[in-house]
Amino acid sequence: MREEAKVLANSEVGAGYRLLRLFSPASARRALPGQFVHVRVPSFDPFALRRPLSVCFADPASGTLEILYKIVGRGTEALAKAREGVAVDLMGPLGKPFPRPARDVRPVLVGGGYGVAPLYFLAASHGRAAGDGAASGEAGRPVLFVGARTAADLMLLDRFEALGVEVHAATDDGSAGVRGLVTAALDAWLARCEAQGGGPSPQKLAFYACGPAPMLRAVEERALARREEAWLSLDRRMACGVGTCFGCTQRVREADGSEAVARVCADGPVFPAGRIIWGD
Ligand SMILES: Cc1cc2nc3c(=O)[nH]c(=O)nc-3n(C[C@H](O)[C@H](O)[C@H](O)COP(=O)(O)OP(=O)(O)OC[C@H]3O[C@@H](n4cnc5c(N)ncnc54)[C@H](O)[C@@H]3O)c2cc1C
Ligand code: FES
Repeated sequence: MREEAKVLANSEVGAGYRLLRLFSPASARRALPGQFVHVRVPSFDPFALRRPLSVCFADPASGTLEILYKIVGRGTEALAKAREGVAVDLMGPLGKPFPRPARDVRPVLVGGGYGVAPLYFLAASHGRAAGDGAASGEAGRPVLFVGARTAADLMLLDRFEALGVEVHAATDDGSAGVRGLVTAALDAWLARCEAQGGGPSPQKLAFYACGPAPMLRAVEERALARREEAWLSLDRRMACGVGTCFGCTQRVREADGSEAVARVCADGPVFPAGRIIWGD
């Protein structure tokens, strides 16, 4: 559950974003897409809380694990200073992963900002599980919709493309992809699929989303309207990361319609569409 990982690389990959590559064989062996590691940042206050960061890629063969992170505050600033060879204390992998996409569905990945990190791991694992057949047949070939403020905030697109993922980008300023919201690009694609298929559901889709709450809600609405499954990864400030402090709660709806309180770290961060009770 805890591992002292070694920094292999920690390089800038875009405006304020860095990719951290760690040698952490135990975590790399167990990590599943959608899970996160709780990181104690080196050279940071040893009594400070850990920081939850999604696993962006894990390769059990080489024992490496990657994290894509955005510098937003003191912890991530300190992490950005960790050089090759530095030890990083990891707890995890933690949380419920995305369910593996069924073979007969087309995974539709929708991400914003560092939300692409777990989606990249999902796409890479999907390709691996399908013996890379996912990249050759349209049915299982993932399609990614990614939104950002500008082109400089779009991360990992070349790596998604190298996996054979169909990529659609949207930026606020139109500097890459279509100008506007990522959901507008998604809607246009869904409309094109329907027009080609001559019906509302030409192929079965499964949605996987990670990013800001309004984006998750928009994806959920579309999935529910189409009666298709969707899996949403929530972002919350966390303390313990393992379900004991109740510092990351989320109101949810149970199968019988009753309300309950879930812990995003232990019961999530991935929740199915229809489960989250969104705040207004
Ligand atoms: C399950 C999970 C997976 C995550 N995966 C990633 C990832 O792959 N890459 C990545 O860059 N970040 C990820 N995050 C967010 C990351 O944990 C925070 O950005 C980080 O803890 C901020 O630490 P800090 O000390 O730099 O910032 P702080 O100084 O603690 O905060 C700086 C600013 O960021 C805000 N903030 C801090 N934590 C969060 C949060 N969880 N959600 C929204 N706002 C926050 C604060 O309110 C403040 O405005 C994830 C969070 C969760 C819960
Ligand atoms: S962070 Fe402690 S219960 Fe989730």
